[in-house]
Amino acid sequence: MDKKLAEEMIELAIEQLKFSYTPYSGFKVGAALLAKDGKFYTGCNIENASYTPTNCAERTAFFKAVSEGVTEFRAISIVGGKDGILTEYAAPCGVCRQVMMEFCDPDTFQIILATSKEQYEIFTLRDLMPLGFGPDNLI
Ligand code: THU
Repeated sequence: MDKKLAEEMIELAIEQLKFSYTPYSGFKVGAALLAKDGKFYTGCNIENASYTPTNCAERTAFFKAVSEGVTEFRAISIVGGKDGILTEYAAPCGVCRQVMMEFCDPDTFQIILATSKEQYEIFTLRDLMPLGFGPDNLI
């Protein structure tokens, strides 16, 4: 991935932190998902008083895209931290990795984990979900 694009995606993810709704954990997450057609879909985490309906930032981004008919993706950037302070990488939870498995090629889909535009690492979905179960397993 081109450095400029990675930085643009990190900036978009950081912008999402202001919308993150986290009255319970205070842990704010932002994501920016890049579709193969070049469009970005952003997302934040959205918590709930009943706890389990909470939606992660990554899934918010995916579900926004899929609900608009977009199902092919290149990459996602993710940032997060307590009170929106970015000190460590916020790696996607297992449920979000599974949602990625549904729509993304594990060997080419790129996951950018960042604490700033200067500090980031890029993983493939395969790196974060080895031996994952996806649509190909049902053929
Ligand atoms: N969270 C995400 O948004 N993405 C992840 O992949 C991990 C967790 C959110 C859910 C919850 O609002 C908060 O972080 C603490 O778990």
